[in-house]
Amino acid sequence: MNEPATIAWDEGSGCIRYIDQTQLPGHFSVVECRTVDRLATAIRRLEIRGAPALGVAGAFGVALAAVICTKKDRAAFFSDIRRSGDLLASTRPTAINLSWGINRVLAAMEGADSVTGAQTVAVAEALAIAHEDDACCHAIGDYGAALLQASCTVLTHCNAGALASTAWGTALGVIRSAVGQGKDVRVIACETRPLLQGARLTAWELARDGIDVTVVTDSMAAHLMRAGEIDCVVVGADRITSDEVFNKIGTYMHAVCARHHGIPFYVAAPLSTFDSDHMGQDIIIEERARDEVATCGARTTVPDGVKVKNPAFDATPMGLVTAIITERGVLRPPIDMKGLNIHRPTT
Ligand code: MRU
Repeated sequence: MNEPATIAWDEGSGCIRYIDQTQLPGHFSVVECRTVDRLATAIRRLEIRGAPALGVAGAFGVALAAVICTKKDRAAFFSDIRRSGDLLASTRPTAINLSWGINRVLAAMEGADSVTGAQTVAVAEALAIAHEDDACCHAIGDYGAALLQASCTVLTHCNAGALASTAWGTALGVIRSAVGQGKDVRVIACETRPLLQGARLTAWELARDGIDVTVVTDSMAAHLMRAGEIDCVVVGADRITSDEVFNKIGTYMHAVCARHHGIPFYVAAPLSTFDSDHMGQDIIIEERARDEVATCGARTTVPDGVKVKNPAFDATPMGLVTAIITERGVLRPPIDMKGLNIHRPTT
């Protein structure tokens, strides 16, 4: 995708610049964010979304908090920054990358011997996280591309692309890399009710790259699999425990259908999405507002007083996953979390 990046640090003015994803595909607007409160609102509203992008947003958020903090006393300074980190971490509980990005910058800052030094370290560490995200996504793309046939149709769900990371994407990174290698890849993008990340965002960014994409409603996936129109499923992840993969609501349904039809089900995610400290049953699934389900544009689609559920994510048992594509290579379940030796910063 062309510049500007999904999310970036503006060195000149010391603010965060990001594409407001709630406006796509109708309007392309870039927001300059100068306060942590505004960033927290942007994350809650899904102006910034997608696990790797949330990791970068959390990291930039702590850097922003550090740069704008006027406290000179070390204890008071760190107390302010931790409060900002806690606020940002509370915005979306399921995607582990958010707290990972926050904690990594906080941990780096603790080594600094002055407030000014901590501010400098915060920006440098956040920029390193953004830079690494791009490298990780390209590595995931290259490992994943090898799994795709020379000519194939890939079903994906939600948006695990450039808009969900800094530039290349995870699931869509696999597709971009395969297309870059000359493979003939067609993409079926499930619209992803209720917020339509597939229809609005995946279709938008793939079409801009000239990649063949067709949007379907989520309920059409099983029909297409049965008709032999899908060769594999590739999705992203918000959190991976040793027993389950958490991703956008609807992912589990695709995994069940894929298994029934003998279709490979691949998850593409960086190691920062892995959670070796918890099992699936411990994970909080974010429940979002009623209106996201009960309205369509300005129209009410569910009668007043009727109950609505709106879990933003679901969990796919690891037994349904063919492979997880990471920046270190392709992992086949069962996943040996300890063997991966993932370092998670704690503060
Ligand atoms: O609620 P969202 O839009 O943040 O959900 C995003 C997803 O579920 C993505 O598939 C996931 O974050 C992986 S992005 C590389």
